[in-house]
Amino acid sequence: MGRTNTSSKPKIKIKHLGKYNRGADDFYVSEESTSYGNKKPYSVFYENQEPLVRLLKGDTIEILNQSRENSVDMIFADPPYFLSNGGISCHAGKMVSVNKGKWDKSKGVEENHKFNLEWLKACQRVLKPNGTIWVSGTQHVIFSVGYAMQELGFKILNDITWEKPNPPPNLSCRYFTHSTETVLWAGKNAKSKHLFNYALMREFNGGKQMKTVWKFTSPSSNEKTFGKHPTQKPVELLQRIIQASTKMGDLVLDPFCGSSTTGVASILLDRKYVGIDFEEDYLDLSVKRLKKTVAEKESRLFPTTSIASIKASE
Ligand SMILES: C[S@@+](CC[C@H](N)C(=O)[O-])C[C@H]1O[C@@H](n2cnc3c(N)ncnc32)[C@H](O)[C@@H]1O
Repeated sequence: MGRTNTSSKPKIKIKHLGKYNRGADDFYVSEESTSYGNKKPYSVFYENQEPLVRLLKGDTIEILNQSRENSVDMIFADPPYFLSNGGISCHAGKMVSVNKGKWDKSKGVEENHKFNLEWLKACQRVLKPNGTIWVSGTQHVIFSVGYAMQELGFKILNDITWEKPNPPPNLSCRYFTHSTETVLWAGKNAKSKHLFNYALMREFNGGKQMKTVWKFTSPSSNEKTFGKHPTQKPVELLQRIIQASTKMGDLVLDPFCGSSTTGVASILLDRKYVGIDFEEDYLDLSVKRLKKTVAEKESRLFPTTSIASIKASE
């Protein structure tokens, strides 16, 4: 499916950022203030105007540091967990390597923390004053992320435990079965007045206040029709996050978008979406998933029968 030769021309036409609609609320990457000489550190990999969906290809820190300040309502980040270090796991009853890719290799505690500080700082700059950020992680990365958030002055709002009801067994039998991930939710800084759709969350929880333990299964096979990303998140988890902390029309950014689960959920919920990743194969997968979601949503909104009846009444 993916292209391994990165020098070959992508199938999807690359547009230049100069074509962006630079409205007051828009997120854009400045071409004027580039600190990289003539070399553009990014390209627009895919763009759809209605609903607004953009995929940017490049290093997320470089792109974010060139982007407009205070322009994003909410960020969901699923960064490298730094766990691809030769370990083993179990998939479909078989022993498999846990390695996800080069991007997920640990560079050591200090370098990993430096990276977390850098990308979180870049995210904080583009968040609107009352915007919030959600970051997922396991024990391999989440303590560093939480500490970096404290160092940068984010206002930590909640630590959500995502419980997986059917985790793979622990093959070594020397540990408890890993069955959770943590998702930290934080406001831009101490002053920010974050949005929380409290009543909707209570309604989802049968009229009781929603707690911080959420149960969702791993992505189902219909979320992988075009192939899968090695660390793909379930759409339901992203829908919950988006519904809890944004309103219709808000701009959602995913700085490590992978297969764009965040984008799929954003489209379904009428939010704008910008995703960033440096791996072309993952962006290809994203485009397929995003196009399918847009098409399915349009066919639900404008079923052929109603289009036929509109034509008949003209
Ligand atoms: C944990 S995965 C995200 C998976 C995603 N949540 C999904 O549901 O498909 C992290 C992604 O970040 C990308 N990535 C890692 N470091 C990056 C960087 N510095 N700049 C851009 N993308 C990066 C990887 O290519 C990978 O696809």
